[in-house]
Amino acid sequence: MEVIQKISRMRAVAAQLRAAGKRVGCVPTMGYLHEGHLSLVRRCRELADEIVVTIFVNPAQFGPGEDYAAYPRDMLRDADMLAKEGVQLIFNPTPAEIYPEGYATYVEVEGLSRVLEGAHRPGHFRGVCTVVLKLFEIVQPHVAVFGQKDAQQLAVLARMARDLNLPVEIVRAPTMREADGLAMSSRNSYLGPEERKAAAVVYRALRTLQDYAEKGEETSAAKLKKAAMEVLRGEPLVAHVDYLALVDPRTFREVRKVKDDPVLALTAARIGKTRLIDNVLIHEARRSRES
Ligand code: PAJ
Repeated sequence: MEVIQKISRMRAVAAQLRAAGKRVGCVPTMGYLHEGHLSLVRRCRELADEIVVTIFVNPAQFGPGEDYAAYPRDMLRDADMLAKEGVQLIFNPTPAEIYPEGYATYVEVEGLSRVLEGAHRPGHFRGVCTVVLKLFEIVQPHVAVFGQKDAQQLAVLARMARDLNLPVEIVRAPTMREADGLAMSSRNSYLGPEERKAAAVVYRALRTLQDYAEKGEETSAAKLKKAAMEVLRGEPLVAHVDYLALVDPRTFREVRKVKDDPVLALTAARIGKTRLIDNVLIHEARRSRES
């Protein structure tokens, strides 16, 4: 395994792989890996000959007062986990390598980036798009895998790839969960034991809404959201719900009714000081049965 820190070296390796006719896959991450990340690596391996996992805690996507400094980092553990998965190449640049003195260019996807996560974390998706575009330019992948856990991020990045005619296929991988349903996340490490138990309420609330909608008992988005909010509010350690929304998964526009078309239910909630996000796709099974 090679851990590459320099852009020049990563570019040279990427060029060699391409010259040898290899299909290159990329899994961008911020490290502190868990089974969710590893599931993307496994999916990527099915789609590519060689994989580059990038590990970079991207300062540009954290707002002032957010957890950039506190974000968990453990490069040795990450490298060990990836070695066990058979990954040969890790790209782990420093912030100064990616954003040298005088850095001034940013990429923004309008519209999609402004709602929900974008509204609560101004500049977040600008930072995500900028770093992912840079990583694509450096690694030159044919295919890149991202998690449905960050559904809006996936939609924003797919839009960027389409709008900028990037020669990379963006692939979606399902959300990996703990036994109690909590979506795996590097930020779960912030939770104390009581908070960790309470955090399962996030998925429980989304599932309540999903069951209710899929049984066809209720089509009003307002009523479905109220049912999920009641579940969240029933957990005293939920300090705040940033949003709970039902949107069209293509446009991220809010829907008023949940009928037969797929609808994405998303939430961001704070358990103590830890901000967790999760989502479920309603009527997904119906759509895949029909297609
Ligand atoms: P990070 O939070 O480390 O996530 C890296 C990738 O893992 C993302 O595509 C994310 O959706 C996916 N992922 C996280 N938790 C998951 C889970 N429980 N199941 C499946 N996939 C999961 O997302 C980022 O980093 C950054 O914004 C990044 C894209 C790397 C740009 O800096």
